[in-house]
Amino acid sequence: MIPFKELAQTYGTPLYVYDFDAMRAQFESLKEAFRGRKSILAYAVKANSNLSVVKHFASLGSGADCVSIGEVRRALMAGVPKYRVIFSGVGKRDDEIREAIESDILYINLESEAELERVEMIAQELNTKARISIRVNPNIDPKTHPYISTGLHDNKFGVEITAAKRMYIRAKNSPYLDSVGIHFHIGSQLTELEPIYEAAVIVADLLRSLSAINIELKFFDIGGGLGVRYKEETTIEPYAYAQAVLAALKGIDVTVICEPGRFLTANAGYFLTKVLYEKQNGQKRFVVVDGAMNDLIRPSLYNAYHRIESLGNEGEASAVDVVGPVCESGDFLAKNYPLPPLEHNDLLVVHSAGAYGFGMGSNYNTRGRSAEVALENGVHRLIRRRESFDDLIALEREYL
Ligand code: LLP
Repeated sequence: MIPFKELAQTYGTPLYVYDFDAMRAQFESLKEAFRGRKSILAYAVKANSNLSVVKHFASLGSGADCVSIGEVRRALMAGVPKYRVIFSGVGKRDDEIREAIESDILYINLESEAELERVEMIAQELNTKARISIRVNPNIDPKTHPYISTGLHDNKFGVEITAAKRMYIRAKNSPYLDSVGIHFHIGSQLTELEPIYEAAVIVADLLRSLSAINIELKFFDIGGGLGVRYKEETTIEPYAYAQAVLAALKGIDVTVICEPGRFLTANAGYFLTKVLYEKQNGQKRFVVVDGAMNDLIRPSLYNAYHRIESLGNEGEASAVDVVGPVCESGDFLAKNYPLPPLEHNDLLVVHSAGAYGFGMGSNYNTRGRSAEVALENGVHRLIRRRESFDDLIALEREYL
């Protein structure tokens, strides 16, 4: 049992709480599924980039999947070994590419032919060889929310098979590029295995045809995307996932890299918010809380469902919109959600908030971002202090 009330009292609200033991259990279940195979779990830092969270996964042997040089720095700072750090993303600045090459990370994932040229040019300037991988867009419908679907030609991510092949041949002929991997990621919050298997088969076939022309790659990166249960979704079992990928590879000798984010952190995280007041507009019931879309934007942005638990209040539940103080009608944590009558200072726990929660937060309406707390072996500790007004104006005040 997590002592939510004690945590809210100690650290104040709104507050993010992460159960590090639950994160470890998720990590280990996935690692176990790939046991006996060469594999790297590269935690997708974007899901929850708190340094202590990244350090926690690093201590379990995790690598890191990063999408900006800032994330690469976080991963290295948190103790992820450089040989397990990957740098992906559809648009990388020259300075980011340069720093990634100089940091000697495992590889840079390329997402276009133009990017290959930039990386080659920068590696030449540095008089070195850049290790690269290419993100293939297998044109598979992952059957998830369109905002987080990434493996269709309509999406901006990756390159077509034919372009990927051209790029590998070009890289082979370049003294500044060293192709070590191949990558795909078809989307996030995936709840069906079939599209992942189909994508893996397509990319494994490309691997075979590259091998036939003497281009041998070491890493087969299957991206992230494993879905979790927010409400009643059926999810993919880690073992079935691993077996499907290995079946697609049918004996090809590669190290499998997997980039889970949500799977490792979502259900280990809670967002605590306090009731400010109830109000009624005509027939419509609202409860106004101290947390808002700037803290947790998933409901507003994707219409995402997060279970909300009311602590301590019994009473008969009726439908209510749980809304924050931000000046937008889109500022809600839930709509028509059944909750009992609530009073000032009652505590609500928003579940499954450990992935894409704090990290997608903002300072909109000059609201400081929440504190973050870790809970491990029954002990809690602060891992990010609450932002103060001074923090919010720190980069502006000197220009006044
Ligand atoms: N690898 C790549 C290349 C990715 O683009 C992503 C996520 C991951 C791994 C990790 O995916 P995961 O295992 O967490 O599904 N903000 C959205 C999710 C965006 C996902 C972006 N890419 C949300 O709140 O649902």
